[in-house]
Amino acid sequence: MMLTDLFGRVHDYLRISITDKCNLRCSYCMPYDLPHGYYANIKRMTADEIYSIAKTFVGFGIKKIRITGGEPLMRKEFRKIIQLLAQLPVELALSSNGVLIDDFMEDLQQAKIKSVNISLDSLQAETFSSITKRNEQERVLSNIHLLLKNNFEVKINTVVMRGINEQEIVNFVSLTKDLALHIRFIEYMPFLGNGWHKNQVFTYDEILSTIGSVFSYTKLNDPVHSTSKNFKVNGYAGTFGIITTMSRPFCGDCNRLRLTADGKMKNCLFDKEEIDLLSSLRNNDDITELVLKSVRNKKAAMGGQFDNGYQQTEANQVINRSMVGIGG
Ligand code: 5AD
Ligand code: SF4
Repeated sequence: MMLTDLFGRVHDYLRISITDKCNLRCSYCMPYDLPHGYYANIKRMTADEIYSIAKTFVGFGIKKIRITGGEPLMRKEFRKIIQLLAQLPVELALSSNGVLIDDFMEDLQQAKIKSVNISLDSLQAETFSSITKRNEQERVLSNIHLLLKNNFEVKINTVVMRGINEQEIVNFVSLTKDLALHIRFIEYMPFLGNGWHKNQVFTYDEILSTIGSVFSYTKLNDPVHSTSKNFKVNGYAGTFGIITTMSRPFCGDCNRLRLTADGKMKNCLFDKEEIDLLSSLRNNDDITELVLKSVRNKKAAMGGQFDNGYQQTEANQVINRSMVGIGG
């Protein structure tokens, strides 16, 4: 059986958050003031529970699993979790902030992870620290090189925020001259507590015209279900792409589902309902009906929360968690 929703979209990609903790404090993801006792009161999937739920999804035709966080490498059982998931017949991928990659290189290779997404919003040490509140830029940069040296496919996620880092777009693209990296510029999205304002969204059109004023580029064919519109500067080793969630949502061929670290299923990044698979699993109930129900409830676009476009949206109207609690 496949996970087909009411709009005919078939879901074969699951993103599992394995922790809501992080060793960075990116302003757009991690609200400055977490409620008191936030971490203490949350139940979390154990490694075995993650495996068990993932297995149910694989039975429904999931072909790719991406491990996310928070920062997934902060999870104490990270090694165990990827060893378990590596037993499933799926492509495994990882999203990380890059800080701890060098500690886990062999584990990633053993689990046959081939593709790693690293979050990096600035090439300037000061801006990096002001966005992330930590001084880890050097380690992240050296880990990006380490991943490339070990033949991983590396995508760099860069959230573009007006007034913060849009003047670095050109420098990011320049990196792709000699490095076979994929830089993906992401339009800034609203999540609980991140202080988003529509005027801070540096849009697809703006990103592309910034790049076009310096480089001559070619449009690439986008893979099916690609969330980014992809390009390449002529003659460069790497590529760049733009994730246009805000200005041009791409929900029409969405194939992804999400599982939060506390075992709630989200049918969309902006799903406000969430279905509690973990409690059900712990009651020894069959979770398959719940999975199907969540898929059936999936809205046509953006969890049904942006039907009038992002410019009509106020940050505090959006019902959702913070990104750190959803899993990127
Ligand atoms: N807007 C856009 N992208 C975001 N990410 C996290 N929060 C936001 C946001 N508010 C992206 C980061 C990270 C990935 C997991 O999600 O780039 O790499
Ligand atoms: Fe941590 Fe990633 Fe969120 Fe930054 S974006 S705080 S690195 S989970």
